[in-house]
Amino acid sequence: MSDVTDFSAGAAGDAAAQIRYLDGVAQLGAQAKEATFVMQGIEANARVLDCGCGVGDDVRAISARVGAGGEAVGVDANGALIAAAIARGVPANARFLIGSAEGLPFPEASFDAVRAERLLQHLADPQRATNEMHRVLRPGGSLLAIDQDWQSIVVAGGSRSTTRKIVDAFVDSLADGWAGRRHREHFVAAGFTQIESRPFVTSLSFVHAYAFVLESAVAAAIRGGALQQEEADAWVRGLLAADARGTFFYGVTVFLTIAMR
Ligand SMILES: C[S@@+](CC[C@H](N)C(=O)[O-])C[C@H]1O[C@@H](n2cnc3c(N)ncnc32)[C@H](O)[C@@H]1O
Repeated sequence: MSDVTDFSAGAAGDAAAQIRYLDGVAQLGAQAKEATFVMQGIEANARVLDCGCGVGDDVRAISARVGAGGEAVGVDANGALIAAAIARGVPANARFLIGSAEGLPFPEASFDAVRAERLLQHLADPQRATNEMHRVLRPGGSLLAIDQDWQSIVVAGGSRSTTRKIVDAFVDSLADGWAGRRHREHFVAAGFTQIESRPFVTSLSFVHAYAFVLESAVAAAIRGGALQQEEADAWVRGLLAADARGTFFYGVTVFLTIAMR
């Protein structure tokens, strides 16, 4: 399996694996999604940008919320994901574009609301992208960003020292593994006001945690030389045994930050 965490722009990733990953995660978070649209006040006639839109499910959902008088735009640096988004259907009031978050192809004050879900953690320069999202928002418009802070992973079932090595290696393998805790830093520097950052914990079963995070985390630790294969195998066996006993646990803190331009 390819490394599903590699969503950095220009990554020669396996698009089919990336799409499977995005669909799997979307299913797990479907209920909370609607609440974030309400939280951001996305209503009829709004012009909304989803930055790093992936396969575009949020853009389609937003297009239904904003109606014919509004517009939902999805931009993503990965052409294969934009092609998949277009193939899934483009509502009359929606558009998908290939583009970079660090240089958004829109004039100043083009949108009432901008969203960036699990984007900033994949950027080499998240400040530049946050500045760009500020620029394309109208004064009084809102930005909502969602990112995990991967240093906050907790796993019950494996040895303490191996778990620490794996979490550290995973954090360091991402463009910004601390993205969640850094929202405020980037938002303040971009000039946003009324910044509110809400942390919440998502917990996954062993099957989902392994498929969506831990397999990639172990691979990062081996790749980076922090772990030998034998130690990795023993750690995973420990998690499997814990799962069989009903004592496995996985959780990570996710930060949802909303602010106004
Ligand atoms: C983890 S995915 C999240 C996709 C979508 N927001 C979701 O919640 O399903 C991260 C997305 O950011 C995109 N991305 C990464 N770097 C980017 C950049 N510099 N500019 C625009 N999009 C980028 C990736 O191609 C990928 O679609």
